[in-house]
Amino acid sequence: MDIPKPKPGSTISASKMAETGQDIRMAANFLKEGKLVAIPTETVYGLAGNALNPAAVAAIFETKNRPSFDPLIIHISGIGQVEKYTEDFPKPLQKLAEKFWPGPLTLLLTRKNIIPDLVTSGLDRVAVRVPDHELILELLASLDFPLAAPSANPFGYISPTTAGHVDAQLGKNIPYILDGGPCKVGLESTIVGMEGEEVIIYRLGGLEIAEIESVVGKVKIKDQSSSNPQAPGLLESHYAPRKPFILGNLDVLIPDFQSRKVDFAVLSFNRVIQEIPVERRFCLSTKFDLKEAAANLFAGMRQLDESDAEVILAELMPESGLGRAINDRLKRAAAKD
Ligand code: TXA
Ligand code: MG
Repeated sequence: MDIPKPKPGSTISASKMAETGQDIRMAANFLKEGKLVAIPTETVYGLAGNALNPAAVAAIFETKNRPSFDPLIIHISGIGQVEKYTEDFPKPLQKLAEKFWPGPLTLLLTRKNIIPDLVTSGLDRVAVRVPDHELILELLASLDFPLAAPSANPFGYISPTTAGHVDAQLGKNIPYILDGGPCKVGLESTIVGMEGEEVIIYRLGGLEIAEIESVVGKVKIKDQSSSNPQAPGLLESHYAPRKPFILGNLDVLIPDFQSRKVDFAVLSFNRVIQEIPVERRFCLSTKFDLKEAAANLFAGMRQLDESDAEVILAELMPESGLGRAINDRLKRAAAKD
């Protein structure tokens, strides 16, 4: 097997400059001025701006270096806000919102014209969610507009799950980071919409399929290839470290890379690989717990990306529960551009 080259791009840690704290008033004032603020959610940190202000939305795309064909999620304070921004609320999706909001669930709903084209990349539907974090809920309640917020990472890189992750990469471009501690879920929200009578999952995420099916019955999971125009953001190579990321059976990969004399790091599910130096290994959950593994995933990928190893070796999780969403992220991290 050839070892792929590191991905081009800026260094992992840029200079840290944003003010960080828990001052909701300060965050609200920046947002009212059209500026961007990093916000905590239960899934990952978001890079937030006034969703109704096209200039603020444009600044989000620019700051993240994100292509404008990749639409944004709007964050609202409660289910009662949905009708302000969308035309209709199909019954199955309403039931999901009642059960799982606030939580890691994003719904695709037909938008009203009040939502700028830039937010939805011109699509008819807007992605909406109520995040589950005290600080962001309090912030949203103090604003009279929703917050458009993608994950607060440079486009294509690993999503941030702490304020420090955000600061390391976007700190010099934003005035404030609202610090809500480490994200509890650690995977982005599950994206759900409807096609005709059918409930469709467009992105696997922090809310398990089984939970969704317990409310609306069998759902369909849409192929998440880059050619899928319904969810243009789901590009193949995503959530990716800069170092080559190689996925496979660790019992085969480790001896193979040892014999080639390549410095490697290892991301394992539940095994602690003692023979490897501490700074080059990360075990996601010694308890074999997929929730814990999800919460640790992006921090683990970052830590190993910042190590002095040349490549990262990793293994898939069991394909059940959150394991499916974790495996989706691992496969995208391993995909070549
Ligand atoms: O958990 C999350 O969802 C986090 C936190 C910050 O809320 N946000 C997040 O945003 O993951 P982002 O921008 O990294 O991913 C949003 C994805 C887009 O890449 C796109 O695929 C999908 O949501 N999306 C948004 N609007 C859409 C639309 N109108 N139609 C189809 N897909 C849409
Ligand atoms: Mg993202």
